[in-house]
Amino acid sequence: MEIYLDTGNVDEIRKAAETGMLSGVTTNPTLIAKEGRDFKQVITEIARILERHTQSFTVSAETHSTDADGMVKEGIEYAKYHKNVIVKVPMTRDGIIAVQQLGKRKIRCNVTLCFSPNQALLAAKAGAYIVSPFVGRIDDHGGEGMELIEQIREIYDNYEFATKILVASVRHPGHVRDAALLGADIVTLPATVFEQLFAHPLTDKGLEKFLADYRKSQAALEQGKRA
Ligand code: E4P
Repeated sequence: MEIYLDTGNVDEIRKAAETGMLSGVTTNPTLIAKEGRDFKQVITEIARILERHTQSFTVSAETHSTDADGMVKEGIEYAKYHKNVIVKVPMTRDGIIAVQQLGKRKIRCNVTLCFSPNQALLAAKAGAYIVSPFVGRIDDHGGEGMELIEQIREIYDNYEFATKILVASVRHPGHVRDAALLGADIVTLPATVFEQLFAHPLTDKGLEKFLADYRKSQAALEQGKRA
């Protein structure tokens, strides 16, 4: 399962990328707005950071139009920023039309704001490279986000769709574990959740004891030599 960072913050991306665990970045208009920077500059800088670590990354850049023609126009422009930029379009009727038109130009799309198995089916039929079901927002509304992932996995396997399932709107490490158990292709994480993946209190406790014992044994040896 690939791990992406869900942010427009280049410092967070640099820090996560140095671990060698990062395969891409997703952005959305809210995340870009948080940075208060020019859209093209942010996307281009993200691509430059990632290409230092891997050649097969993707950066998702989201369109702002609501009509298919507008999305296609924006998508063609974004694809010029860097060969690994993929165009994020909303899961709407127009979005599905735009995915197919961009596909004819060999421009890959990430269909975002997916909340149902049928939407995911349409995204795959349109030839989306990635579909992004939002598990956290479903949970926030009292639903079971991971059930959607399970259903999409089954549908895609039934028909051998190549569209990658990207688990979005991740809130905690449990979502990452469940995504991996269900066979999702990608998870995109806020930097805080990414950092949490490395940690376990028993690792810290265990390491503390190992290091203390090592220091003690070395000190005892030194003392023995001196005696
Ligand atoms: C990523 O592609 C999505 O835009 C993002 O994960 C949404 O997350 P949120 O529900 O926390 O805004």
